[in-house]
Amino acid sequence: MVYKVLTYTLIGIEAHLIEVEADISHGIPAFNIVGLPENTIKESKERIRSAIKNSKLPFPEHRITINLAPADIKKEGTSFDLPIAIALISSSLNISTENLRKYLIAGELSLNGEIRKIRGALSGAFLSKKINLEGVIFPEDSSSEAAYFTDISVYPVKHLLEAINFLKGEIVLEPAKPKKNIASQNPLHEIDFSDVAGQFHAKRALEIASAGKHNVLMTGPPGSGKTMMAMRIPTIMPDMTIEESLETTMIYSAGGLLSNDKPIINKRPFRSPHHTSSEIAIVGGGTNPKPGEISLAHNGVLFLDEFPEFKRPVIEALRQPLEEGVIHVSRASISVTFPANFLLVAAMNPCFCGNLGDNSKPCTCTYAEIQKYRKKISGPILDRID
Ligand SMILES: Nc1ncnc2c1ncn2[C@@H]1O[C@H](COP(=O)(O)OP(=O)(O)OP(=O)(O)O)[C@@H](O)[C@H]1O
Ligand SMILES: [Mg+2]
Repeated sequence: MVYKVLTYTLIGIEAHLIEVEADISHGIPAFNIVGLPENTIKESKERIRSAIKNSKLPFPEHRITINLAPADIKKEGTSFDLPIAIALISSSLNISTENLRKYLIAGELSLNGEIRKIRGALSGAFLSKKINLEGVIFPEDSSSEAAYFTDISVYPVKHLLEAINFLKGEIVLEPAKPKKNIASQNPLHEIDFSDVAGQFHAKRALEIASAGKHNVLMTGPPGSGKTMMAMRIPTIMPDMTIEESLETTMIYSAGGLLSNDKPIINKRPFRSPHHTSSEIAIVGGGTNPKPGEISLAHNGVLFLDEFPEFKRPVIEALRQPLEEGVIHVSRASISVTFPANFLLVAAMNPCFCGNLGDNSKPCTCTYAEIQKYRKKISGPILDRID
């Protein structure tokens, strides 16, 4: 008999339904996973075997075939461990197939059967609502983020045995209920724009920029407070609406950056990647594309300090998201879109030595050096900075 367990895979920040089918037949013992699994899933076999054995559950020493359907979507990540393990041992434990079909199940297993957090739990919860499931069985560490914005029952599990006993109907689990403090959307910031002394013109420019969502470039000598002011921009932006908070939370969830202590993003994000960051880190990507810094700054501020020091392709890659508010990442097998609607705040020195225009310190750069420094920022990018 073939046992089926429902789970999901992330494409961008969207969860897509995947059916894990397990067929156990007589023959030489083997363990195969088919249906376009990437390396992380192929590796999961050993984790699953150990987790099942160490939980004192019966591991079927037969010919095991796991199919991940639909077979045309590439699957990657560790969240398949739990659904595969459950599909494998359901037959020997007499878990009813009816019970299995009620839930969307995901989780990474450790060798002793503990369940670790997953990426995209929030999208997974939305998916299960869309297809009218009774609930989801997710790692305890991912349960608050999944439950916060959805009214679906999120059953948090810490150990494989807990998930199995729940599916067998031997224990009752309380659905996760994160503290709803979304009404108090006004999160307190530790820093404040009023910390900035003087700098009347710069402050006014930044106030206008943040009110009208205009991208800005600050130029000034070292120590003039560029970094300090940029960090305080989110504190003068309007509070996030619930929709904005949900959008940004979805991205952080897909990046695996949330926890039960911090299940949602309700403060406008401030991201300041270092200028040595790679293009993938900034715009997103990888074989199974993950959101990059520009998406993590969605509905907030992306601060690029020492702007000319960023690699040319990184700066150029910002052009499309600055225009459209989204980034399309295409790889050989897949093309995904991440939201990336951010306020760009860039900072640079006026020249190499930084002293150009400073009356107290002489500038030691040659004219050619100044031109070269400024040329690093291309015209099309400057066009997008108001
Ligand atoms: N207007 C200001 N009000 C209060 N503190 C300031 C102000 N300007 C600068 N400072 C202080 O001076 C220090 C240096 O500022 P900051 O690092 O922001 O300068 P910067 O312009 O980013 O310099 P660099 O070009 O070297 O990166 C900070 O510790 C900051 O607290
Ligand atoms: Mg600085």
